[in-house]
Amino acid sequence: MTQTFPHSRNFSHLCPTRNFTRRSLGEGGQNSNLSKLKLIIAIDGHSSCGKSTLAKGLAKALHYAYLDTGAMYRAVTLYFLENGVDYNDPVAVDEALEQIDIHFERIDGQNHTFLNGRDVERAIREMQVSEHVSPVSAISAVRRAMVAQQKALGNRRGIVADGRDIGTVVFPDADLKIFLTADVDVRTSRRHLELAAKGIDADWDEIRQNLETRDRIDSSRADSPLRRADDAVVIDNTLLSEEQQLEQALQLVHALEN
Ligand code: DC
Repeated sequence: MTQTFPHSRNFSHLCPTRNFTRRSLGEGGQNSNLSKLKLIIAIDGHSSCGKSTLAKGLAKALHYAYLDTGAMYRAVTLYFLENGVDYNDPVAVDEALEQIDIHFERIDGQNHTFLNGRDVERAIREMQVSEHVSPVSAISAVRRAMVAQQKALGNRRGIVADGRDIGTVVFPDADLKIFLTADVDVRTSRRHLELAAKGIDADWDEIRQNLETRDRIDSSRADSPLRRADDAVVIDNTLLSEEQQLEQALQLVHALEN
């Protein structure tokens, strides 16, 4: 169901983040058994196609933890940029990775990423980080370090994780795998709105180009490229609201109960 919208740039009516109403999705009740089941749910897909929105919605509905693996690669990238680490130099990369500590905290109901004790949630979303994160996350040493931490976090189960290699590498035995995708123009507009809401001013064309470049690098890298796991369910959310997307995913989760 891929649609292309070559001329118009006003897709705000299609942006899931704009029209989410919680209705009766989750908050205990019908999902309390699932809360106890402690499933592992893996969400992979292209850049800015709403993976984190869906993952957060599912985690909230099921009372699970949410793991934003992209934030971890962004935090590493920010460290490299701020400390002038040449990421083409394997020794410099290994030394830098030794110095990096990443953790997450919930602040006012939102996930915040901390890099060596500093809240970098806003800084890691800046365009400069977006421009370097794909080459940085293609480095095997970086992936090894991040995947090890992600697997350890998954040991507790009851987790929704989103990224590029969650269903293929991090949690290949996940109970549910979703592969999310959407039209690139719609994704660009969503990202544009998201950045604007955070007070980050970015050019629409620059965002679109960044999404396409990242998709290309993420899908073609040698180490754990973005690809749909054979047993993943594809959801194209181009024309879905945030609520519809969450409902589809919750139906998949509920199907696991039976
Ligand atoms: O989900 P995101 O756009 O915040 O991710 C930023 C980058 O991190 C993305 O371009 C590719 C990389 N990434 C990855 O290689 N593997 C993951 N599991 C998550 C993200």
